[in-house]
Amino acid sequence: MKMSAIIGHRGAAKIAPENTLAGIRTAYDKGVQWVEIDVILLGDGELVIHHDRTLNRCTDGKGELLSLTLPEVRKVDAGVLFASFHGHQFKGEKIPTLREALNLIHSLDMGLNLEIKMHKHSPEELTTRVLDQLQGHPLVEDGKLIISSFDHDVLVICKEKKPEIPVGHLFEKLPANWLEQVKRVSAITVHSNQKLLMKSQAAEVIDAGYELYCYTVNSGKRAVELMSWGVSGVFTDDPETIKAALL
Ligand code: G3P
Ligand code: MG
Repeated sequence: MKMSAIIGHRGAAKIAPENTLAGIRTAYDKGVQWVEIDVILLGDGELVIHHDRTLNRCTDGKGELLSLTLPEVRKVDAGVLFASFHGHQFKGEKIPTLREALNLIHSLDMGLNLEIKMHKHSPEELTTRVLDQLQGHPLVEDGKLIISSFDHDVLVICKEKKPEIPVGHLFEKLPANWLEQVKRVSAITVHSNQKLLMKSQAAEVIDAGYELYCYTVNSGKRAVELMSWGVSGVFTDDPETIKAALL
């Protein structure tokens, strides 16, 4: 599976509110072909695109998403805090549902790395609901979707229930037994924190036949270095900077 060399992180988190439809559209406008977004579960079983366990950092609301319902979450403004630093065009932006994000990404002919974000959910419930929504979606049918997670159990469940959907294994620091973990879930890509990655580790992953992607790379110089190591792509909040560096 080849994602693009530049993958918009949480949409394009430096230039639009993260994990929103506006963020996905902004990434598209900047020429980004693939985006990464995080999916989490609400208290009523609905799936939305959000990174944190609570609403507090990114919205004008408060509280744990796991104890809220979709109508409650839809009331909050996911653009207002971003707008206070970067202009007001994003005011009123909502937290999107997974379905809205899938449909937008497909309509823009983009690819998606969907990160399943575990907070205090049951991995079984969260993963089953995500896979149910992906069932028959054209993004999956067209080979333009890859699931990733830091949570090994989530990836095990994905492979048991939907072996045809490609998965990438997310790591912070690459563990000594990374290959064993990756093999156990038949991951085809390895996603690693660029800050903790050494050149020798990158070589190990690539020599073992896996595509390696690094997050979160907002420095053009670092992007150039990682690509010179053979990394397949970088997740970035700032696609314009990375694009200028890699051209
Ligand atoms: O999927 C790459 C990256 O998004 C993982 O970290 O915390 O930004 O979701 P985080
Ligand atoms: Mg993520």
